[in-house]
Amino acid sequence: MATPRKIAVVVGSLRKDSFNRKLALALQAIAPGSMPLEIVEIGQLPLYNQDDDADPLAASVAFKEQIAAAGAVLFVTPEYNRSVPGVLKNAIDIASRPYGKSAWDGKPAAVISLSPGAIGGFGANHHLRQSLVFLNMPVLQQPEAYVGGAADLFDESGGLKKPETKQFMEKFLTAFAAWIEKTGKPA
Ligand SMILES: Cc1cc2nc3c(=O)[nH]c(=O)nc-3n(C[C@H](O)[C@H](O)[C@H](O)COP(=O)(O)O)c2cc1C
Repeated sequence: MATPRKIAVVVGSLRKDSFNRKLALALQAIAPGSMPLEIVEIGQLPLYNQDDDADPLAASVAFKEQIAAAGAVLFVTPEYNRSVPGVLKNAIDIASRPYGKSAWDGKPAAVISLSPGAIGGFGANHHLRQSLVFLNMPVLQQPEAYVGGAADLFDESGGLKKPETKQFMEKFLTAFAAWIEKTGKPA
């Protein structure tokens, strides 16, 4: 059987104790072997500058290559001021350029927004989806994942504390796997 292609996980927070990073790690722990989730870091990226398109910095080239090599992309992000954190938008812009050479093009995607607040980052989730339409990424529609109450989600070792959260995340990953199968392209 062919080795499954990696799924790039892009976390929209650089915070050391980020709930979103914890969730990405918890997802890695529960994902089946057929879904190798790999966190692709964005904190080392420069601020996007179109002047760099002709000769991008090494960090940008490496990031773009990691996205290009992935079979799909999972975004796990907080909401900042009812929108996408700047660091995540910056990473998206970097791998989208030069024009016509986007690394995101055609890759199946899914979005999880996670916040300590009650509405689970709905605003960020949907602002992100707006960019993904332009980037030509088929995005998983259901189940939607607006996860609230982040501060009460994890146990001391970072695992998902509540069985219902774990069940939901398993269902989400199963749906994403089917979505990748349906809309993804071979390497
Ligand atoms: C600049 C800034 C803006 C924020 N805006 C929102 C917001 O619009 N909605 C929300 O639910 N939480 C908001 N928060 C709170 C974040 O959801 C919270 O800090 C969360 O823990 C960030 O995710 P992380 O734990 O993965 O770093 C904001 C936090 C910061 C620092």
